[in-house]
Amino acid sequence: MNKKAPFRLIQLSDIHLFADAERELLGVKTEESFQAVIDLLHRDEKHIDIILLSGDISQDNSHEAYVRVARALESFRVPVYCVPGNHDDPRVMAKVYPLATISSERHIVLKNWHIILLNSHKTNSVEGFFEESELVYLQHCLQKYPEHHAIVMFHHQPFPVGSKWLDNLGLQNADEFWRILQQYPQVNTVLFGHVHQEVAKLLHHVKCYAVPSTCIQFKCQDEFSLENIPPGYRWIDLYEDGHIETAVRRVAEYVGMFDAEAKGY
Ligand SMILES: [Fe+2]
Repeated sequence: MNKKAPFRLIQLSDIHLFADAERELLGVKTEESFQAVIDLLHRDEKHIDIILLSGDISQDNSHEAYVRVARALESFRVPVYCVPGNHDDPRVMAKVYPLATISSERHIVLKNWHIILLNSHKTNSVEGFFEESELVYLQHCLQKYPEHHAIVMFHHQPFPVGSKWLDNLGLQNADEFWRILQQYPQVNTVLFGHVHQEVAKLLHHVKCYAVPSTCIQFKCQDEFSLENIPPGYRWIDLYEDGHIETAVRRVAEYVGMFDAEAKGY
């Protein structure tokens, strides 16, 4: 790679695979829609440095689902890092990973960039929460690399995205998280999933991004509703001077036949 070329990250989220590849989530075969996104990545991305999975990798916590995701991503021959979502079981993930190109590392240093992965999974809950140990870990990482531009990734949204039902299920101790971040000006970007939609916002001088799910998409409104819009992924380019470029790409030709009457998931 050219010395001045940026690092290209790919963020995938909310894959929701089942042990049975034929099973559907609200009418969408999650394996099929995930494969459509994988095909798009193969077609459109000429160079990838790393792939990040921002949670809800499995819908049913099955060993088989975690293995299939690892096998599907193996073909890119780049390191893959992940965090658990509310639908994941971190104990099962810890038994399966590392596997193929999926690592169980929790922080990554890329020249003058530093990516920190946090666990916002709360046992038996849909909403998210950072245990004290996660917040200590975050501070430890930020103190260790004070000169690096930092990216923090986890599953649950750390601010309201404008959808009442979903915002009740976000990161419950987000205030504590933001209080910590404000002490570390090197924090550049926050990446998250859970919201199944594209989000881009600047908050407390930190760029915050969410990505569409690789299966069903949520409409940004107060009651639960699905949106008729294709799955996709986010690419993020990291430049040496700390600036980033990013956008979402969607599978133009694929929209799963979802259940338009669904009232929840
Ligand atoms: Fe999800």
